Amino acid sequence: MSERLERRPLICGNWKMHCTVAEATALAADVRRLVASARQVDVAVAPPFTALHPVARRLEGSSVALAGQALHPAEQGAHTGEISAPMLAEVGCRHVIIGHSERRAAGAVDDAAVAARVRAALDAGLSPIVCVGEQLAERDAGRALERVGAQMRAALAPVAADEAEALVLAYEPVWAIGTGRTATPEQAQEVHAFIRGLLRDQFGAAPSGGLRILYGGSVKPGNMVALMAQNDVDGALVGGASLNAESFARIARFQSELENQG
Ligand code: PGA
Repeated sequence: MSERLERRPLICGNWKMHCTVAEATALAADVRRLVASARQVDVAVAPPFTALHPVARRLEGSSVALAGQALHPAEQGAHTGEISAPMLAEVGCRHVIIGHSERRAAGAVDDAAVAARVRAALDAGLSPIVCVGEQLAERDAGRALERVGAQMRAALAPVAADEAEALVLAYEPVWAIGTGRTATPEQAQEVHAFIRGLLRDQFGAAPSGGLRILYGGSVKPGNMVALMAQNDVDGALVGGASLNAESFARIARFQSELENQG
């Protein structure tokens, strides 16, 4: 079996600071119903903290997994406004998004803070979705890979090879997030292949070939198929389009759209 086939795509909706509890539970129920027919993919949603528990209950017994949007690296303590990895695990999260560019931009995390959070997530049995991506100025200066490489090396420093299989990476070019401007499939593939190479260097061929590298940044039903046609694109981290259950489900059902085209 080729490496590509071993990697089951993951489609994760990042709801960001959207949805009251009532809206989140309704959206979760719709997602649950609409993605039931999505084949051979893993699906997750990341509601805001206030909605995690009610959404977990709404997803009980379904294959849709729950993800946190951020975490603090300490297990507990005097950290007003923060949430720890064990808290996310207790409420039923399988994943947690770490180092999203919106949190990096807000100054909430830098590369060292991302590494501490990856460690905390692994210690709590969570699967981190580690976000990396360059700014537009860095891409224009030809320094996209350099920036992504630095973020990757920092984030992965605390991870041992026998823990690597819990990792998910997400390449999110900052200039493509919420802008409607998606990276071309070729631009995404170039960076994804680079990320895969870094994973191989650090962990060896065996775990790295099976690790999923998601693309994020203005993913929509209309561009998902072309992105997924790239060898090293193993799913998507979806912001805006995940707030509409229909469009999120169409993204998760990209295999059917691919077959219809083929
Ligand atoms: P977007 O967000 O799909 O709205 O561009 C993606 C993300 O921030 O993860």
